[in-house]
Amino acid sequence: MGIEGFDDAGVYKLSEGMALVQTVDFFTPVVDDPYWFGQIAAANAMSDIYAMGGVPKTAMNIVCFSPRKFPLELLKEILRGGIEKIKEARAVLLGGHSVDDEEIKYGLAVTGIVDPNRIVKNEGAKPGDLLVLTKPLGTGILNTGMKADLLNEDEILYVCRMMAELNDRASQVMLYAGVHAATDVTGFGLIGHLKEMIKEEIGVEVYLKDIPLLPKVVDLAKSGFLPGGLYRNRDFFRPHVLNLSEGPLYDIIFDPQTSGGLLFAVPEKNLSMLEEHSKRLDVKIWIIGRFTREKRGKIILL
Ligand code: CO
Ligand code: CO
Repeated sequence: MGIEGFDDAGVYKLSEGMALVQTVDFFTPVVDDPYWFGQIAAANAMSDIYAMGGVPKTAMNIVCFSPRKFPLELLKEILRGGIEKIKEARAVLLGGHSVDDEEIKYGLAVTGIVDPNRIVKNEGAKPGDLLVLTKPLGTGILNTGMKADLLNEDEILYVCRMMAELNDRASQVMLYAGVHAATDVTGFGLIGHLKEMIKEEIGVEVYLKDIPLLPKVVDLAKSGFLPGGLYRNRDFFRPHVLNLSEGPLYDIIFDPQTSGGLLFAVPEKNLSMLEEHSKRLDVKIWIIGRFTREKRGKIILL
């Protein structure tokens, strides 16, 4: 499976029962604390494996760092955060590569495994399926507020925890609930990633009032603390959105997410199974919409 379908990770079948699932992701620091940054970057890199229903097994560090510009202790803390998350995912770090670069960047190349008959793609949602999200939205806006010193310590801790949270249990929940299609919400925001799930095949209704939001995100959006990527996402994806109108959600649904939650489609008849497994595995879920035969290729805001 290649890159044509914009799926989250590449898949290579080894045998009837096993396929490799591979992905790579790295970026510049999203938070000041290097230890949190390492955890967030690693959780973000492994997320694409979980979005495809796979399990990460091995990881390699990708590091851009200048020891002349920054103390080595900083890099150690970033890597410590990364290793902690790799361990939590029960994967192993096999090595990595570093480049001397004035701008710090960190992330992972991750290899996981998946049953080739149970790969979860971003296409495949059926009319009537429920649309489920597993993390609140707003990390792009909150990170912008953080850079402007508008968040207190508790708020910073809350958003860091949210971004560093693995999507491992969320992935198990969707698999138990008989998922039809899934992706994770990252740089293209809720609307951009949702568009990848529907293509021109199907439509989807989104219940704006049911979308979970991080604390303070509405205030920050109202005050205009919006990341550049948000405007680009809105310009690019707005032709596919119906009933788009001004208001805080006008920004937030396009907000690029760092290490966002899983976004998936499950048949409505599996709702009780979905609720049961999310409770058992302690995964928060929000049902934020429903796929429909009407208005193919459109995201209908309600
Ligand atoms: Co992804
Ligand atoms: Co990715």
